[in-house]
Amino acid sequence: MTKCILITGGAGFIGSHVVNLFVNKYPDYKIINLDALTYAGNLENLRDVENNNNYQFVKANILESEDLRQIFEQYQITDVIHLAAESHVDRSIHSPLDFVYTNIVGTVNLLNTAKQLWNKEEDHLFYHVSTDEVFGSLGETGYFTETTPYDPRSPYSASKASSDHFVRAYHETYGIPTIISNCSNNYGPNHFPEKLIPLFINNIIHQKPLPVYGDGNYTRDWLFVKDHAVAIDLIFHKGQRGSTYNIGGFNEWKNIDLVKLLCRLMDQKLGRQAGQSENLITYVKDRPGHDKRYAIDASKLNKELGWKPSVTFEEGLSATIDWYLNNTEWLKNVTTGNYQHYYETMYQNR
Ligand code: NAD
Ligand code: DAU
Repeated sequence: MTKCILITGGAGFIGSHVVNLFVNKYPDYKIINLDALTYAGNLENLRDVENNNNYQFVKANILESEDLRQIFEQYQITDVIHLAAESHVDRSIHSPLDFVYTNIVGTVNLLNTAKQLWNKEEDHLFYHVSTDEVFGSLGETGYFTETTPYDPRSPYSASKASSDHFVRAYHETYGIPTIISNCSNNYGPNHFPEKLIPLFINNIIHQKPLPVYGDGNYTRDWLFVKDHAVAIDLIFHKGQRGSTYNIGGFNEWKNIDLVKLLCRLMDQKLGRQAGQSENLITYVKDRPGHDKRYAIDASKLNKELGWKPSVTFEEGLSATIDWYLNNTEWLKNVTTGNYQHYYETMYQNR
């Protein structure tokens, strides 16, 4: 094996696509998927690779530094792609400390382990997967670039910004080879139905209300998750150490326009009358501190490494809806247990 890569959070949404891509594309690498299997982690996302020789799942928590040391030593970890995190903004508003622990302390634990065990003479990389939310909120115009000052505004983005700073600090202070990428909103298969697109797909299937926050005129920049995984692969192999890369598809949508498109596509696919799903749209109390607009300028990644998205939004969204319609068992499994309770209480707590 030429590399033994520790991918954290590999049972989650984006992590599972990164694991699937690396296990299949690089049979000479050993891929260790470290995941605590929180509510967002799901081993069903790894069915296609679970029996591959170059894949190993390890249930562990990045808050347990002694476990991390043992895993690094046992598998002789050469590189880290770090995705494990608490990832949902609404949850961060209710329980900010969970985000401080996992996203900040967990990241520093991983950095410390790399610092203790990696030899400076050898070729290693600590790749930290981050978000465009660290840059704050845009007005009607402009884009986030790699040099946009950090201005996080939710507990989630504050915790991710802090973790980014620690990654940079470990590069500058201890010489750990690091790369950070900051990506816009992802969508696609394996997405837990608490985020806008999979939540609304699930609700449309079950003809439940579609809770649009505030006036619905908030803008997000959407990228198909498999295109994010391809960008991570490219940056991991060709990116400059100590550098950061913005990832995004130049694909801005106001929430309400996206929801109407989703309703239209789903009415067609489900053989429902045109307009039926739009009747489910329900305006609800806004998310506190709701960021108005995100838009990523991904031209550095395009110019330096030649990356660009492979699908249009309509293609990606259509494929995503098909995936959920064909994977009703997956959807049922992740929406049992605490899921209902969470949704019944979350607006009351706002
Ligand atoms: P997710 O919530 O779907 O998955 C997170 C995974 O991390 C889960 O499998 C969970 O079990 C695991 N995890 C959580 N706490 C852990 C802990 N303490 N120890 C070990 N494992 C733990 O998240 P996602 O949407 O796939 O996001 C992955 C990463 O990408 C995150 O760092 C997130 O900030 C970043 N990101 C996400 C998006 C997006 O649109 N989803 C966009 C840009 C960046
Ligand atoms: O920009 C990258 C970020 O995108 C990632 O770092 C986060 O991990 C990821 O969760 C996502 O954050 P958002 O807050 O933008 O995603 P979410 O799907 O929660 O919300 C998208 C938009 O839709 C946002 O403006 C809030 C709105 N929304 C969301 C939900 C869940 C609604 O109007 N109703 C809803 O029920």
